[in-house]
Amino acid sequence: MSQTLVLGIESSCDETAAAVVADGKEVLASVIHTQVEEHAQWGGVVPEIAGRSHLRALRPVLEQALMDAGIVAADLAGIAVTNRPGLLGSLLIGATAAKALAWAWEKPLVGVHHIEAHIYAALMTLEAPQFPFITLVVSGGHTSLYRTTSPLCHELLGSTRDDAAGEALDKASKMLGLGYPGGPAIQQAAVQGNPKAFPFKLPLLSRDSLEFSFSGLKTALLYTIKGPGGKMADDWLIPQSHLADLCASYEHAVATTLVRKCVRACQQTDIHQILVGGGVACNKRLRTLMHMEANKVGIEAVFAPPEYCTDNAVMIAGLGFELLQRGQTADLNLDVYARA
Ligand code: KG4
Ligand code: ZN
Repeated sequence: MSQTLVLGIESSCDETAAAVVADGKEVLASVIHTQVEEHAQWGGVVPEIAGRSHLRALRPVLEQALMDAGIVAADLAGIAVTNRPGLLGSLLIGATAAKALAWAWEKPLVGVHHIEAHIYAALMTLEAPQFPFITLVVSGGHTSLYRTTSPLCHELLGSTRDDAAGEALDKASKMLGLGYPGGPAIQQAAVQGNPKAFPFKLPLLSRDSLEFSFSGLKTALLYTIKGPGGKMADDWLIPQSHLADLCASYEHAVATTLVRKCVRACQQTDIHQILVGGGVACNKRLRTLMHMEANKVGIEAVFAPPEYCTDNAVMIAGLGFELLQRGQTADLNLDVYARA
């Protein structure tokens, strides 16, 4: 039986990516051009720079993906592209390219929801997923918990009231002078640190809440290094030698909060499986803590593979396959949306 090959295109933020995936599972090619260095000097993603960079990178990335997969356009069953949520200028580059290719190659087109695709990256690791799952999507722009009943059905249980977990790590990293992106920088700086050295109060909100809040944690970090109000002189209140401890403690507070909410969601819904995707799901402390705490109460935690946690097109092609199977195709009027 021949395989169903889908070309995935991702350009919602600062990664230009293309991938070819067979039957929603087998990765034939995955190419990612990251813009991290172009944005690093600004301390975060600059939308104007992102859009222009996607425009330059997309064609070579697409050509490389087809070449790596060893296929030609005629072999494809369809083209999947992220069309929501994300930076409008960036989404437009990918969506316009996808529409042009779908028209020229006479292939069906599907529009993919970026957050649902992050969840699919974790689902892809399972041979035969047994729904339902509690799902945590944790990235630079999102921190949300869902009850997932199929690859395309996700009931929102709670999300962040302010900063996303990745944003909290990115902002902390900037504050500590560790650069962008903050998650990997903090993880690296925290390796030798003591996670109990600075016992930050966990932002768990009320007992039953499945919502998150990370802005208070960020303020607590600021006050720890710069004193009450964060307005002390340029120098830190505490010796710089505490950097590793600070990072480990902050990372521990973020990870513990995420883990506790996932376990709480499982207990409230009587579900015993957790899926985790999104850039912050790369974090080693989060992975270790989640497996440990979940195992204690008989819950299985499934993470997306680290290479498919941050933005990539494999997850777009994967979910695109599911949409294609269900006939949920788009026409050439497919639009892009900043919000989901
Ligand atoms: O999923 P993603 O690539 O983009 C969004 O959709 O937002 O996630 C990017 C986020 C950034 O905030 C980055 O700091 C964080 O993921 N991140 C990490 C790690 N790698 C990336 N956070 C913690 N630990 C990591 N190893
Ligand atoms: Zn993402």
